[in-house]
Amino acid sequence: MGFIAIATTDELAVDEMKAVELDGHRLLLVRAKDGFYVVDEMCTHEDYSLALGCIEGRRIKCSLHGSYFDLATGEPDEEPADEAICSYQVKIEDGQVWIDPTQTRSESHSRR
Ligand code: FES
Repeated sequence: MGFIAIATTDELAVDEMKAVELDGHRLLLVRAKDGFYVVDEMCTHEDYSLALGCIEGRRIKCSLHGSYFDLATGEPDEEPADEAICSYQVKIEDGQVWIDPTQTRSESHSRR
């Protein structure tokens, strides 16, 4: 599939996020303090939208039961979630944020 532009780099302030649907997959673009991340939108615990949570440093918090996920690795940092979300390859080019929904970051678990 290759990289697809999903937002301009000035669209989001730090700690903001935007839901994106690509090829039937619900993803979240997040601007953290150290850059942009794209992760699965739904929490692995109970299929609840992480877009309703908040960003803290390089982590996203699920607002339903309070699990945190590392945005770079997708790994849960706190229970009750015990399964990682996917974090995808992102690049910044021409003032836009591009992602390849077929490529997870190297340290991220792949569930595809
Ligand atoms: S649904 Fe996300 S922690 Fe329970």
